[in-house]
Parts: sequence; structure tokens; C-alpha cells
Amino acid sequence: MLRSILLFGLITLQMFAMAMLPTELSDSGIIPKPVSVIPATGIFTLTEKSAIIVPDKSVELMQIGQYLVDKLNPATGFGMLVKSSTGAKSTGNIYLSLSPGDEQLGNEGYQLTINSDVVSLIANKPAGLFNGIQTIRQLFPARIEMASKQQGPWEIPAGTIRDYPEYSFRGVMLDVARHFFQVNDVKRYIDLMVAYKMNVMHLHLADDQGWRIEIKKWPKLTEIGGSTQVDGGKGGFYTQEQYTEIVKYAAERYIMIIPEIDMPGHTNAALASYSELNCNEKATELYTGIKVGFSTLCTGKEITYQFITDVFSEIAALTPGPFLHIGGDESHATKIEDYIPFVNRVQEIVSGLGKQVIGWDEIALSTLKPNTFVQFWAKADNALKGVKQGAKVIMSPAANAYLDMQYDATTKLGLHWAGYIEVDKGYNWDPATLVPGINKENILGIEAPLWSETITNIDELEYMVFPRLPGYAEIGWSASSTRNWDEYKTRLGRHDDRFKALQIDYYPSKLVPWSVPLER
Ligand code: ACM
Repeated sequence: MLRSILLFGLITLQMFAMAMLPTELSDSGIIPKPVSVIPATGIFTLTEKSAIIVPDKSVELMQIGQYLVDKLNPATGFGMLVKSSTGAKSTGNIYLSLSPGDEQLGNEGYQLTINSDVVSLIANKPAGLFNGIQTIRQLFPARIEMASKQQGPWEIPAGTIRDYPEYSFRGVMLDVARHFFQVNDVKRYIDLMVAYKMNVMHLHLADDQGWRIEIKKWPKLTEIGGSTQVDGGKGGFYTQEQYTEIVKYAAERYIMIIPEIDMPGHTNAALASYSELNCNEKATELYTGIKVGFSTLCTGKEITYQFITDVFSEIAALTPGPFLHIGGDESHATKIEDYIPFVNRVQEIVSGLGKQVIGWDEIALSTLKPNTFVQFWAKADNALKGVKQGAKVIMSPAANAYLDMQYDATTKLGLHWAGYIEVDKGYNWDPATLVPGINKENILGIEAPLWSETITNIDELEYMVFPRLPGYAEIGWSASSTRNWDEYKTRLGRHDDRFKALQIDYYPSKLVPWSVPLER
């Protein structure tokens, strides 16, 4: 009798202990997967007395601290502040500081130490702190992401995370030409991508169906070329002030903006705006369909190069990043003997503006300048021609990385010319082994493009982007030797409550074991 009472007591105690056991730090389901997570005993708790502490009042550190406060205050309701102090650490605070000299962490890595008293985040560079903050967000319960006050407690299990990326370039592309997206939509996309530590947004600003950026010397580009979109909607464009607002919003989140003006093909919007850009001096009709490969700038005319110089001069002046993207894809209406000298000359124009060229893989048919980058999307042969010329490659294989490809035959949005891309197919590839002859040292990074022929608004964008984006983020950030789909899918499944808290309209793929409840 005594024995069974003791046994009963022991089991009850064990059950109680299990129910109370916090999630271990190593079981926190972070995406992208960190380089190293070492759990320790203890739990950190954020309270109404907590603050974010930076060591000095440098504008940049205060801004990073404010970003974290803005993420944590709505759901906790705490009204925390960013303060500067170099004094002894006090319980309940989160400390952010730059601590240069840890080479392994590089420009974007961070080290996060959590104990039952404080959270300490250090990095060589501000971008590393910003990435570490994204990890801190994921360590709190998902309801931390909600816009209104939620129940605590706000706890993180103790331990240490050391983390840095595999590739320095981890991007998305948004086609604002086929359908226009307002500034607020672009900002929303930026907010979502940074949560998964992506750091590049490529904006496809001009195509057959629309010209989307104000060029003061060529105002009809937006007056006429910006006036419509696929299916004949009213289109739109960014004024230079609005583009600058996007660039600034991105820079505050450590995102580089890469502007693309596609040429010599994909140029009908420009050709419809200015008759003199056409070989026959006649402006084309505006185009609202989704065919490709029918338009070309007149490569033999001097005014074409004046036009390109003017356009890229204005855009370069508004773009702090080093790259201008010249497109160069699917120029089927341009003879190859015209295409090659055209691309060579445009490279000269761009480098004359102090910028470096990125172009789709076809540009490798020309003679690449030493600082030109090739974006692989379709033809491995082209990309290999780039590699042979010493160019680095951005990996955007359409069959693996195009966010506008349908998940399967039942997906209502998107296209499938490059195949269906279910969440596993989007995740299960390695940039460094996909194309024999393109190795890790040839690769700058990865980019997942979203073409918008069928994508008309931010909800539709979210449905195509999520849940594939966290997978592309992980391919760019985490070493391929540490990745595998079966393990990843369980981590991804635990992000559905974060998607819900952030009001993301994601595709609930049947391949992923979604966790459903908001409580963890
Ligand atoms: C492309 O998809 N035409 C680059």
C-alpha cells in the first residue's frame, strides 16, 4: 500500500514537472536554422520593468533598439523604452551592443546569450544585431507578433546561439511592372522578409506592361508607360520621392534595394511612351497581355543609349546600393548580333555611373566586365558562360525558386511553365550543387523572384510567398549539410501561429505538419 502511494506520488510529480518544463532553447524551431544553439538551465522573463539597453546613444543603435521595442510593445503592452547605459546589467533587460573582432560572425552574424537574468546580443556590425533581433522575436511565444495586448508570460529558455549566414546575398524579387504594388505593399513585404533574415529586394521596375519609376528627363515613361497593367487596370508608378522612401525603409532594415530596368526586350511600355525609341519612329500600343519576347529597344540608334544613360543616372542617384540590374532576358526580338554589343555598351554606361551590373543569365553571351553578376534563371549553359568569364552567379532557378510558380495543379494563382513548386521542392535544393560547374565559390547568393502576371494584390502575394519564403531564407542562411526536409518541415509547421499572428495569408500545404494552436 505504502509502495503504491509512493509510486502514485512520484508519477504525479513527474507529470507535473513535465507540464511545467519550458521548451528548451534547442527546441525553439528557429528559421533559418542557426549555426549553433547550446541550451542552458534557466528562463528569462520579460516584464513591465524590462528595457532595451544600448551602450551609447549612437543613432544607429538607438534605432535598432527602437525597432525591437516596436516589435515587443504591442503584444506585451509593456511600453518598454530604449535606454543607454554602460553600467552593471540589471535583471529583466535585453542588452544590444557592438563588439567587433569576432571574425567568424562576419558582417551579419550575432551571438545571443540568454540567462535567467538578462538577454545579451552582440555582433560586429549593426546588421548582425538586426539579424539577432529576428531570432529574439522567434524565441518568444508566437503571440508576441500580435498587434494587440496578449497574455504573458513572455519567456525565453536559457542558452547561447551563435549564428552567421552561408551566403551574403539572400534576396527576393518583386515584379511591380505586370501589376503595380503600392509603397505600403512593398514595405509589408520588406517587414515579412526581414523576419527570416533576408537582405536583398530586387524591384523589377519596367516591362512590356508598365514603367513604374518617375524619370524626370523622360516624363512620358510614367505618364503613358505607367498608365496601365496586365488586364488593363490603372497601373501606377513610384515618384522619385516614393522610391527614395522605399530605399530608406529598406536600409533601416538592412535590406539593399536593387532596381531593374529590363532591356533591350521587355520594353514595350517605354516604346509606347516615346516614338523615337522605336526603329520605325512609331510608338507602339500599350500592352496588357502576358506574352513575352516581342519588344526591343532600337539598338542601332544613339538616342537609345542617351535614354539608358539618363534613366540609369537618375536611378543610380537614388540608389545607395552598388547594383543596377539591366534585365537582358528573353530579348527574342533583338538579333543576337545586336544584343551582344548592346549589353557590352550598357555595361559601360552602368560602370560609368559607378555601379555594377546584374543581368539575367542571357547577358553572359556578351563580354562581361569584371564586376558584372549573372542571375541564373533558365539556361545553365548561359550561367556557365558567365562563370567561365569569372562572373559570380545569383541563383534563381525558375524550377526551384520562382515564387509565382503554382504549388500544384489546384493552385488558383500563378503559372506553371517552369513546373509546380510545392513547399518541399522549393526547399530541397542546394545552390552549390544544382548546376555542375557552378560551385559555392562562384555563387554570390540566392534570390526568389515573384513575377506578377497573375498576382494583383498583397494578399495574393502573401499566398504565393508563404510558406516558401522561409525555405529560401534557410537555403541562403544555413549550410546545406545542416538542412533536411523532414526536420525542416516540423520547424516550419510550428511557424503557422506566427504567420497567423502576423496576418499572413499563407498556403497551408498538406506536406507540412502545421501546429494550429496559438499556444505553444
Ligand atoms: C525571366 O523569368 N524572364 C527572367
